[in-house]
Amino acid sequence: MDAISVIRTKRDRGELSDEQIDWVIDAYTRGEVADEQMSALAMAILLNGMNRREIARWTAAMIASGERMDFSSLSRPTADKHSTGGVGDKITLPLAPLVAACGAAVPQLSGRGLGHTGGTLDKLESVPGWQALLSNERMLNVLDTTGAVICAAGDGLAPADKKLYALRDVTGTVEAIPLIASSIMSKKIAEGTGSLVLDVKVGTGAFMKTLDDARELASTMVGLGTDHGVRTVALLTDMSTPLGLTAGNALEVRESVEVLAGGGPADVVELTIALAREMLDAAGVKDADPAKALADGSAMDVWRRMIAAQGGDPDAALPVAREQHVIKAPASGTLTRLDAYDIGIAAWRLGAGRARKEDPVQAGAGIELHAKPGDPVKEGQPLLTLHTDTPERFEYALQAVEGSYDIAAQGTDFTASPVVLERIA
Ligand code: URA
Repeated sequence: MDAISVIRTKRDRGELSDEQIDWVIDAYTRGEVADEQMSALAMAILLNGMNRREIARWTAAMIASGERMDFSSLSRPTADKHSTGGVGDKITLPLAPLVAACGAAVPQLSGRGLGHTGGTLDKLESVPGWQALLSNERMLNVLDTTGAVICAAGDGLAPADKKLYALRDVTGTVEAIPLIASSIMSKKIAEGTGSLVLDVKVGTGAFMKTLDDARELASTMVGLGTDHGVRTVALLTDMSTPLGLTAGNALEVRESVEVLAGGGPADVVELTIALAREMLDAAGVKDADPAKALADGSAMDVWRRMIAAQGGDPDAALPVAREQHVIKAPASGTLTRLDAYDIGIAAWRLGAGRARKEDPVQAGAGIELHAKPGDPVKEGQPLLTLHTDTPERFEYALQAVEGSYDIAAQGTDFTASPVVLERIA
């Protein structure tokens, strides 16, 4: 077998055989297939696609490139959630302790932000002392004792994906449905969860800009999970505007704690409860009431224990950025658009995200929203507050925010998009 013949097969719109897929993934992981050869193959896949059999085999080969975790020693069923990424998407933070409080175990391997989308680990690292990197034994111990753990995936899990994802990121080959589906599902299946709920984001702030693309991605991933014995369900959810009223690391932790205290923005609460219900159902946990677990403080108790078990101080003050800049509404009326992508880019430019994987992030940087689409606004009222430690970033962030919103005359007909758009099982 050689890399050139595999590339030619896909370049010429052929089907890759099982043997070709197994060989190329294994040889790439071992360094025998060069980065330039794999990037040519990834581009051929992006342009010419893969069928169901090829995607299934590609995913299985990536799982086989590393170790598989095993949670069979736990007394509770496991349930995990994966979001395809968005702006202000802090849902994992209240969701993991909430589902644990309702009786499932939540092994949540999470990532860092890159580009305009935030990452759960960056958000949690704004809690003083909290650690993302745990050994497999420590992860299992936190999961067993608190019911939930949120941590970085170890190096042994789907190493082929780790290498390939970094390569796709710099070769314009991220946005291929077969590659996204196999990348996400290889990690989730290798992680060993019994059930999985996928939050597939749709809209300007998401990878998938249209419902049709989101449906295709969701049904591909649901099929892969089911074939590997993982009960998998997907919700397609709106990402045309940021979730909640904050985008940025410590700002989003603060908002998540508000949700765990029984308050918080309506869209964050709605999506957290909708995903919790799906996870509990997929895990076979009956008679649990996630809304009650938010109201009675039991989800907050798990949050506090989970943060403390990973070295964090749940009572410590969260970092606040040194400088703020308020953007005021230029007119009175109804806010009819606040674009998720533009807000994500502005938060990133303020220091909430990184330009290169090795860059640090600012814990306090980001954006607070003072109105959501559908809300009435008055000329001169605060619309957005920008936060950063480095005020020279304001100008660059303001360029991103310019044109990110529309205000229509009062009384204009407007219906905000529902949070949950569709369910695919
Ligand atoms: N997230 C992943 O883990 N992989 C992708 O390819 C895209 C998003």
